[in-house]
Amino acid sequence: MEIAILIGTRPEIIKLSPVVKACEQMGKDFFIIHTNQHYTKEMDKIFLEELGIPPAKYNLEVGSGSHGYQTGVMLERIETVLIKHKPNLIILEGDTNTVLAGALAAAKLNIPVAHVEAGLRSYDRTMPEEINRILTDHLSELLFAPTDIAEKNLKNEGIDSKKIFVTGNTIVDAVISHLSYARKKSDIHSRLKIKQKKYILLTMHREENVDNKEKLKDILEGLKKIIKILNLPIIFPIHPRTEKMLERFKLKLPEGTIKISPLGYLDFLVLMADAYLILTDSGGIQEEACILKVGCITLRENTERPETLDVGANRLAGTDPDRILKETLYMEKKVKEWENPFGDGKAAKRIVEIIYAR
Ligand code: UD1
Ligand code: UDP
Repeated sequence: MEIAILIGTRPEIIKLSPVVKACEQMGKDFFIIHTNQHYTKEMDKIFLEELGIPPAKYNLEVGSGSHGYQTGVMLERIETVLIKHKPNLIILEGDTNTVLAGALAAAKLNIPVAHVEAGLRSYDRTMPEEINRILTDHLSELLFAPTDIAEKNLKNEGIDSKKIFVTGNTIVDAVISHLSYARKKSDIHSRLKIKQKKYILLTMHREENVDNKEKLKDILEGLKKIIKILNLPIIFPIHPRTEKMLERFKLKLPEGTIKISPLGYLDFLVLMADAYLILTDSGGIQEEACILKVGCITLRENTERPETLDVGANRLAGTDPDRILKETLYMEKKVKEWENPFGDGKAAKRIVEIIYAR
């Protein structure tokens, strides 16, 4: 049995890296297809290298474009590879356009789809990711739900419970296996001339935030208020989409924000672990903050990771400047003690065992 593992963007490389490792350790036959949805070195190559991902057998060189264009080109190119190579199953992770294209191409060729991180729901269909997740789950034969909440979401949509397995989230595997090495290897604090717990970490790239001038302006106003009250710098490894939109809208970051290029996983992991607080609209970073016991303020009105809210690790702040400040001050005061709801760090091994026991 040979399986295809599909990657395309930064979070997929990170969250599938433990699955790749598990396949290697268990001596399983696999090959990698990379759509190259992400292609800039800091969004792509650095992760492949740091996380030890073997070279992709197929680089599809799709790159950027509108949703329809990007998904369409991926669909066509993934289909060509699947027809040529005929894997017995395809593994994909998350909710990007890469994932939807991969699931659709495979399902139409009767190649079983194994979806890692199945069942997440924000119940907000204005998000492209929500559409991708729902469709992918309904195209999948094996659904690896990270938590009981995700499993319940799938059952509520009528998906056969025999296809669903609660495994934990592979992000826990990735954090556990890299944190101590990252601490030894990374000199990010000295490079940025910052001290542990004396900075706030920020990331934002959600289309509904950064492609909307008013929302982006409001978030920047919120950052200004935080810097004024907390008197801490905000470190901002900026996603290329956000960089592009700030330029297009001619918006300036408030003084006290330190904008840097996107970081590799080792530097970023250390920066997250030692942050005073994390402000983000990322999906994965809400989980990592929770795992690392760093308070998180999410710059969105909803989340597909409600577990982080339930354990008290995360607060939804939306984009209103006063609310962003209020939630940041709330999280600042909170004792950062909670249970990690995302599993024991053995999700990847479980996933590979289930696939091969099928
Ligand atoms: C995509 C995913 C999102 C995920 C994110 C991870 C979809 C619909 N969105 O969003 O769910 O959270 O990846 O980071 O699949 N760009 C570069 N270099 C790159 C990649 C992108 O410069 O390597 C720029 C281009 O200007 C591009 C823009 O970023 O147009 C957006 O890239 P795209 O892949 O469409 O979406 P992301 O915002 O990265
Ligand atoms: N990340 C990183 N360097 C950065 C920003 C993020 O390594 O400069 C990692 C982060 O630790 C997380 C993943 O990228 O594991 C999240 O990716 P992103 O926020 O782009 O996507 P999302 O999770 O929202 O889909």
